[in-house]
Amino acid sequence: MIKSEAWLEQSWELALDKTHALAERLGDAFPHVAEGGRYDNCEEAWWTAGFYPGLLWLAHRARPDGETAKIAQRCEARLEKILYNSEAVDHDLGFIWLLSGVAAYRLTGDSESRRRGLLAANLLAARFNVNGRFIRAWNFHSKDMDTRGVAIIDSMMNLPLLYWASEESRDPRFAALAVQHADTVAREFVRSDGSIAHVIEFDPAIGKKVAEHGGQGFAPGSAWARGTSWALYGFTLSYGYTRDPRYLKVAENTADFFLSQLGDACLPVWDFRAEEGHREAWDSSAAAIAASGLLELAKYSARAEQFTKAAESILKGLHHTCTSWGEEHEGLLMNGTVHYPEQRHINVPIIYGDYFFVEALAKLRGEEGLFSVEKREA
Ligand code: GLY
Repeated sequence: MIKSEAWLEQSWELALDKTHALAERLGDAFPHVAEGGRYDNCEEAWWTAGFYPGLLWLAHRARPDGETAKIAQRCEARLEKILYNSEAVDHDLGFIWLLSGVAAYRLTGDSESRRRGLLAANLLAARFNVNGRFIRAWNFHSKDMDTRGVAIIDSMMNLPLLYWASEESRDPRFAALAVQHADTVAREFVRSDGSIAHVIEFDPAIGKKVAEHGGQGFAPGSAWARGTSWALYGFTLSYGYTRDPRYLKVAENTADFFLSQLGDACLPVWDFRAEEGHREAWDSSAAAIAASGLLELAKYSARAEQFTKAAESILKGLHHTCTSWGEEHEGLLMNGTVHYPEQRHINVPIIYGDYFFVEALAKLRGEEGLFSVEKREA
């Protein structure tokens, strides 16, 4: 699928300009949200730390300039120290290392990046709960749930680190754990209408499901928009790596649910089932993730044309209504929502919104995303 349309070329060139300029201004920082126009700088251990280096790798791949890759490598070197503190890492090792070390290794062949990526995969594998057959999400203590038994839908995007590690090391252990986790998620998180739970708590000793929690969604049983996108994209990736048709089916059903809720719009409400009085927050990041996921799904689904068109329509809509190309905003994509229930960062640019928007544009232009299965020799 190689598209070339005026809006796409314009969006792509402006996104590259803006990303290269951002790299010059921020250097090896870890931006997360851009409230008031300027990106903040998070600690290395925050789950979003990979999106900025990932964005820089996409920009470098399209328009190599020497500097951008060096900054991404400096970010990766800063991230390494987290790998030696098992209490500082969580399941988001996948997001962080697929977009930093693994991306660097794939693009440059750097053996240090490969070493770090494999170390991260080992730490992610170590989070697998054998009795419950799930990957533990978080380490923190909570009065609301026993986090030793908690898995969340976002995890589906972390699994490609395990699939990659199995391919790279020729050791099937990592992929075997990824498949068991994906099976648990397909069973416990995915509802018959294609909507998705954000957080499921299991008994950490015996693995039995204890409860669904609303998490970043409105309530248990609701339909957090970004969680739907993580599932759509994540199950597609598991299909890409395993070719298990059950994952393709889940991805298609989730895509149908997402698109039915979105209707003709391009910008989803933060939770499709948020009650009246709570529907004035939007999530452009959910739209960008879904668009990139739909383009991934189009690589495998018999309904490729439909999913490609839907992705194109979302991206074109975002381009026309939701982007900022001037200097007043460092973010690319306006109107993302991080955590509505905790009232954190509502209707603001978010680094993963920017990352997935650019990744999706790259895919529309015929390139691969950084989560995708590598093209192999036949
Ligand atoms: N919990 C990760 C997210 O906000 O999508």
